[in-house]
Amino acid sequence: MSFNHKHLIDITEYSADDIMQILETAQRFRSVNERRIKKIPTLKGFTVVNMFNEPSTRTRSSFEIAEKRLSCDSLNFGGSSTSTVKGESLVDTVETLCAYKIDMIIVRDKHAGVPRKIADVSGAHVIDAGDGKHQHPTQALLDLYSIWQAKGDLNGLKVGIVGDIGHSRVCGSLIPALKIMGCEVTVIAPPTLMPARPEVLGADHVTCKIEEALPELDVVYMLRIQRERLEGAPYPSLREYNMLFGLTQERERMMKRDAIICHPGPINRGVELDSFMADHPERSVILDQVYAGILTRMAALYLLLGGSEDGITA
Ligand code: CP
Repeated sequence: MSFNHKHLIDITEYSADDIMQILETAQRFRSVNERRIKKIPTLKGFTVVNMFNEPSTRTRSSFEIAEKRLSCDSLNFGGSSTSTVKGESLVDTVETLCAYKIDMIIVRDKHAGVPRKIADVSGAHVIDAGDGKHQHPTQALLDLYSIWQAKGDLNGLKVGIVGDIGHSRVCGSLIPALKIMGCEVTVIAPPTLMPARPEVLGADHVTCKIEEALPELDVVYMLRIQRERLEGAPYPSLREYNMLFGLTQERERMMKRDAIICHPGPINRGVELDSFMADHPERSVILDQVYAGILTRMAALYLLLGGSEDGITA
């Protein structure tokens, strides 16, 4: 099956078939990652720039590992070590990088819209690795992969996303991705952490009553409270947030017997998620999500740079 996308910036541009193709390609890369020698020559000769202008542990490291496992050349670039601190514009920076005949730019930036701007001014493929409060499409892909692996099917699952909805770029990609794949989505948050017009999120249900929603859910997706984006926290305290909305051991008793727990990381332990729940041996798939980050990012790199699902070389 061919893959007809140049960029991965907005998950709503992808169909259910496109997303399934990425998840199935990720599944094929699993065997590569479980060998002793975890490297294949598939993208040898391609050059990828990882432009991270905001901190990252998971996204950045998993892209770097994915690139190494596929044998492409990588340039790690961004933040305060670049000439942007001397006033060089984004466009001039991108044009400089493109003069090296690079093939792809993976970008994280605190400003929404930067990946699209880069795609407009460069001939390179672009992957959005998280832009402001807008989108984080590869996070949605790794989440879908992890849920698919845990549940066997995505269609018809009831997924609840709990927490800092208003500041979340994870939500910006995950809600439409879940809807595209046939899930029923409930968003759960205090009114102060909900967007002013929650209907634009596209979720099926919006509520501030976590106890009413929990017993129905197959997947409980806890969001990080984004302290760095909260200027003057619009709720009394982190302790009170934990009491009212945190996934605690008491609230586990309200969950379905086979419901799983997801979190994009990094976790604020004791705020949105108690350690007992984050490390729960049967329910938590948080470290599976981390591993899925490599598989799905390998799949995205491979398909965007022109590989077909059938052409994975050993
Ligand atoms: N989930 C996520 O994007 O984590 P990092 O900020 O560590 O990349």
